[in-house]
Amino acid sequence: MSAAEPRWHLSPPIWINDPNGLIHRDGTWHAFYQCNPFGAHWGSMSWGHATSTDLLTWTPHPVALPGADGEDIFSGSCVAAPASVVASWPDAPALGDADEVLVAIYTSHYHGESPRAGIEAQSLAVSTDEGLTWTRYAGNPVLDRGSANFRDPKVFRHGDGWVMVTVEAEHQQVLIHTSDDLVHWSDASTFGPHHARDGAWECPDLFRLPIEGTDESAWVLTVSINPGGLHVGSGQQYFVGDFDGRTFTPRRMSDVEDPRTFDWLDHGRDFYAGVTFADGPDGRVIMLGWLGNWSYAHDAAEGGRRSLLTLPRELTLVEHRGRLVVRQRIPAEAAAVPVRRLRLLAGQSQEVDGITIAFADGRLEVRRPDVAGLSDFGGTAWAPVDGDAVELDIHADTGSLEIATADGLVWFTMATPHI
Ligand code: FRU
Repeated sequence: MSAAEPRWHLSPPIWINDPNGLIHRDGTWHAFYQCNPFGAHWGSMSWGHATSTDLLTWTPHPVALPGADGEDIFSGSCVAAPASVVASWPDAPALGDADEVLVAIYTSHYHGESPRAGIEAQSLAVSTDEGLTWTRYAGNPVLDRGSANFRDPKVFRHGDGWVMVTVEAEHQQVLIHTSDDLVHWSDASTFGPHHARDGAWECPDLFRLPIEGTDESAWVLTVSINPGGLHVGSGQQYFVGDFDGRTFTPRRMSDVEDPRTFDWLDHGRDFYAGVTFADGPDGRVIMLGWLGNWSYAHDAAEGGRRSLLTLPRELTLVEHRGRLVVRQRIPAEAAAVPVRRLRLLAGQSQEVDGITIAFADGRLEVRRPDVAGLSDFGGTAWAPVDGDAVELDIHADTGSLEIATADGLVWFTMATPHI
């Protein structure tokens, strides 16, 4: 069985999971992503590649970084770097006459016959043709702690150097490293375990966001967790705080062990591994996530469901109920995506594509029925919302619903029961 194609989402006809290497270049948005070039199930992990000018419709490109014998290419990021920096590396690749090149920083997940089998370490690749072809760095890996669960580097420019956030997934820790040249990395600090920690920490990101209505900004550290999300399986939490170039310090920590007192990017069941684009225009911060949940993703793919990334979300901070929270809106570039506006009064509910949305007692509930063969698919996700009525922006596509309160403070990203 092969499912219909989503219209507004990046969804190649093969298995995909996390977005990787997101970067904006002169009006073109590059999305790389975890994929299996050979099939609809997880395996042979590689970086696929697509580009877009509206973040809704995507032009496919050849696989950017194919997995090799003994080495899967796991998640990571991409930065634009001066060619002079890359030329200074020991055993630097040939760069031609480029002034600036793209550098991918990814996890080498070694297995099989590799002498490093069982280890995850961070590696580099360089592109001089806007991400179409890549040369792996001869000195890989560049950061190896001898760990089996050290992955998902997100690198960003900071001052004159670069900062990398990664995870020690099974220790529920984010590791921060710094570098002047992307090859030599120094330990800066660690963060965690904090808040949700009943699962592996994966795919961290760290970025600065403007606080709406002020001239100020704050830093946000996000980290995905699986299992141990808000409602079974995968989820993505965040912390708002300050970053001095080496250490992230949260402004608020919950003093109770209740996941409802933590901060979550999405209250639905299918938002995971969200990361932001490097070099967003005007400093804007735009995120894509994987529209999936590891609880049932493998079985869903076996059943013919398409893999897809989420709609783009532009992130800002707002003061809400006495704390800074992330607001997510569809960015202007993607304004063409159809939106259905729905208003629910207290006590009212509405079914959309097999999912029931209900508003009562200060709670917005999203209920999904069970689907045979998909464990933990059915159930109720909910979030508290203020007021006597709730205005919703509903983005429906084949196989998915992304439901937002109109102020963008609460989102539910959900695979639909029918495909
Ligand atoms: C998250 C993740 C990452 C890893 C990748 C492998 O979904 O498990 O931690 O790099 O997927 O595909």
